[in-house]
Amino acid sequence: MVRLAYTETLKRGERTSQLSWEEIHLLLSTTDLEEKQNLWDAADRVRKEWIGPEVHLRAVVEFSNYCQRNCLYCGLRKANQTLHRYRMSHREILETSIRAKEFGFQTIVLQSGEDPFYTGERIEELILAIKRETQMAIALSVGERSAKDYSAWRTAGGDRYLLKFETSSRSLFHQLRPGCKLEERIFCLQKLRQLGFEVASGNIVGLPGQTLSDLVNDILLFQKYDFDMIGIGPFISHPQTPLGSSPNGSLDLTLCVLAITRLLTRNTHLPATTAIRILSPDGCEAALAAGANILMLDFTPSIYRQHYEIYPGKGTHSIALNELPAFLASIGRKIGQGVGSRKELLKNIRDGMDQKFKNP
Ligand code: 5AD
Ligand code: SF4
Repeated sequence: MVRLAYTETLKRGERTSQLSWEEIHLLLSTTDLEEKQNLWDAADRVRKEWIGPEVHLRAVVEFSNYCQRNCLYCGLRKANQTLHRYRMSHREILETSIRAKEFGFQTIVLQSGEDPFYTGERIEELILAIKRETQMAIALSVGERSAKDYSAWRTAGGDRYLLKFETSSRSLFHQLRPGCKLEERIFCLQKLRQLGFEVASGNIVGLPGQTLSDLVNDILLFQKYDFDMIGIGPFISHPQTPLGSSPNGSLDLTLCVLAITRLLTRNTHLPATTAIRILSPDGCEAALAAGANILMLDFTPSIYRQHYEIYPGKGTHSIALNELPAFLASIGRKIGQGVGSRKELLKNIRDGMDQKFKNP
């Protein structure tokens, strides 16, 4: 049964985008399907008003699955000796990027584990070459690196940077990411922003030991830092990790975190993450109906794709590109034009407001 307090809080969130910790906790902790559906619908209305029907596509190239870290939840962790490791060469990465451009993508995401083989200079050369050959927007997702590397990559033409803080709980972060500090990750995010990158972050929902209160804090951190993109994905258990016997995160809870984030951030980019899509065959559609407006498509060459196994099924669930326009049309959406940057989105919102002002 839908509670009055729930409806009132949801209305206020939709109208003002300002909710207290307790109010977010109330929205998030519901177990009532009708209340959840009302939350997802409210987020869908906010997405429609602030962003419109466009779904922007990003081509992701996972160019190395080597990682020097040992995060307890991740299949790429160094201690996983069952994983076949690969690295793509400069030339392979460049050729893949050119192919992505030919397919019509306007953003390329270069993603890898934390792999020191790709030195600051190697990645800088890659950025210069991809920019020169394709003029695409370049997003990097290669983990925590020095301020010197970040600065060189920005100067070379890097546009965006993805670095999820994963969980805002300091104790959980330290337990799950041995040798890493939450403060350093936040410092990296601030540094990237100062350098002029559009900055994406995000979390994992349903990590073993995570509480609803931790998720409320994650959402408030999203709002505080006003990230340009926020990736929210469920935990998916990987048998070759120390968390292999823990249950997967819940789809509903992930959609609730996504929807509240849409209410509070209004116009940030929110992807229907790969992990959501893997958790459930309806995950993609459900996320797009609960506030999401971005699709990250795996463009890693097929010989490597299966080995980028952060979690099981990762390389086998890619969306068929040729079916995408019809799928999006069937849910009243369409492929976004332009590079789909947050700056561009904010400009469109401002122009729309000016227009309304001139022709009320
Ligand atoms: N389940 C869900 N997401 C995961 N990631 C890593 N392992 C898992 C998992 N088991 C995500 C993290 C990280 C990215 C590389 O993949 O959020 O940022
Ligand atoms: Fe490496 Fe990232 Fe996986 Fe941690 S989450 S093991 S840093 S790829």
